[in-house]
Amino acid sequence: MNILIADKFEASGVEQLTKLGCAVTQDADLSGDSLVRAVKESGAEVLVVRSTKVDSAVLDAATQLKLVIRAGAGYNTIDFKHARTKSISVANCPGMNSIAVSELAFGLMLALDRRLVDNTLDLRKGVWNKKEYSKVTRARGLKGRTVGIVGLGQIGAGIARRAKAFEMDLLYFDVVDYPDLERELGIKKVTLETLYAESDFITLHVPMNDHTKHMISTGQFGMMKPSACIINCSRGGVVDQQALVKALDDGQIAGAGLDVYEIEPGASDKDFADPVMQHPKVYGTHHIGASTEQAQLAVAEEVVRIVEAHKTRGEVLNCVN
Ligand code: MLT
Repeated sequence: MNILIADKFEASGVEQLTKLGCAVTQDADLSGDSLVRAVKESGAEVLVVRSTKVDSAVLDAATQLKLVIRAGAGYNTIDFKHARTKSISVANCPGMNSIAVSELAFGLMLALDRRLVDNTLDLRKGVWNKKEYSKVTRARGLKGRTVGIVGLGQIGAGIARRAKAFEMDLLYFDVVDYPDLERELGIKKVTLETLYAESDFITLHVPMNDHTKHMISTGQFGMMKPSACIINCSRGGVVDQQALVKALDDGQIAGAGLDVYEIEPGASDKDFADPVMQHPKVYGTHHIGASTEQAQLAVAEEVVRIVEAHKTRGEVLNCVN
């Protein structure tokens, strides 16, 4: 079985795939036209991607392709509907990197509260600015503050557990009820409106789809506390970035921690001049939520499990289309 890995991928995963008897080609720099050429020339039956986009042109060029595996949970970067029309299955690796994303979201909360990035940037410039960074009106502390979690799946639950350890109050909104987590953590289900109005930190953990696109926009920012911070480690399009910049400029909210952006460069692109990242009240990371050693090893193992089931039994585990 020919496998093309068009992204970074753990070496242990490549090794295990090879042991399964697969012929593995890996090129993390493929994208657009070069990916179209590579799927055509390699005769790949399985394509594994992480950040690399798989559009209809790639799927049309791939005459042997049977399965695309997203080495992560979200699959909005793959044209999974077009894949279906070509009888190509798309599978993902849900839950494998959820703790890593919870940790990053929590880290952004702590960083915003104590302005860790600005502290460091001043120190790197040789500036000692204790007067500014010790202002208690700007560092409110996390204990007793309310975190509102939109989407209480595995990532949201990971945040709730960490926030409980920090003695924070917990609210959530989800289309699903989680009575066990409510009992275990004392987290309370509320409407989105209540969550926006009462939370000091609002953290988003929903997939990107027609219902969630721009679910946080001008109207929602208008409901939030002026001291609130929003954290987005889900998908960029969930937050209307223009409205975010305006809400920060107008003092409707205090800050934002972003790991994802409405228009995100591919893994091998170098330039990223998004105005949202020039904003002094925004702390950003490079869509690294899933990028811990633990998470990537778990994702690689799941990819191997999916390939093995497909190769030996013709099954598609975690099929999303
Ligand atoms: C996910 O969907 O799980 C993440 O976006 C994965 C990643 O960044 O690799």
